[in-house]
Amino acid sequence: MLVTIRPAAPSEAEVLSGLALAGKRHWGYPEPWLEAWRGLLTITPEYLAAHVVSCAEDETGRVIGFYALERDGDRCRLEHLWLDPSLIGRGLGLQLFEHAVRAARALGAAEMLIEAEPNAEGFYLHMGAERVGETVSRLTGTERVLPQLRYPLPGVVEQDRARPRASTATAPPQVPAVATASDCANMYYI
Ligand SMILES: CC(C)(COP(=O)(O)OP(=O)(O)OC[C@H]1O[C@@H](n2cnc3c(N)ncnc32)[C@H](O)[C@@H]1OP(=O)(O)O)[C@@H](O)C(=O)NCCC(=O)NCCS
Repeated sequence: MLVTIRPAAPSEAEVLSGLALAGKRHWGYPEPWLEAWRGLLTITPEYLAAHVVSCAEDETGRVIGFYALERDGDRCRLEHLWLDPSLIGRGLGLQLFEHAVRAARALGAAEMLIEAEPNAEGFYLHMGAERVGETVSRLTGTERVLPQLRYPLPGVVEQDRARPRASTATAPPQVPAVATASDCANMYYI
């Protein structure tokens, strides 16, 4: 399957919300929990306008996954990473994660923070993230431990800071320190 990862459009908010809910449902949570999470899993056009959201589409243009990055100072938060559950285990999560890493780097972030769905923690650890803490939440009396992860993005910010700003006759051409997520459009086979 040929997959294209590209910026999400505001008109796709409902489709992305459906993918987020389906991804959460994949782990077998009870329906009342899913209802309680519906607000957190709802992507609005305003959210898409405010944050870096890229989606994956197949050859027919069907949206099959997405991620969302929120800037937080010199960090980025990976707030969403969801796939069509029928495509789990085929490499799409890896492609979206790596795309998010490149987008975070292009934004000049020094690290990417992730509050992981507990069932997905193993995936992020496998990608190279490290656990830096955990938070405890309660839902209908049940305690849930949410892993807090960090994925370092070494090099980019330091290099940009080190680059000489004063223009001299021998200075190399200046490369923009901050690119947009649309610079990361890509195609993959999964
Ligand atoms: C977590 C998720 C995004 C991973 O995506 P995926 O497409 O299934 O993962 P991939 O097929 O790209 O796997 C890439 C690698 O990660 C590994 N991996 C995937 N899920 C893993 C897990 N839960 N634990 C440990 N390793 C995992 C794979 O074995 C593969 O390893 P390899 O490259 O050495 O062969 C996917 O399982 C998913 O959508 N889950 C439901 C929604 C969800 O929980 N999203 C996260 C919200 S925080």
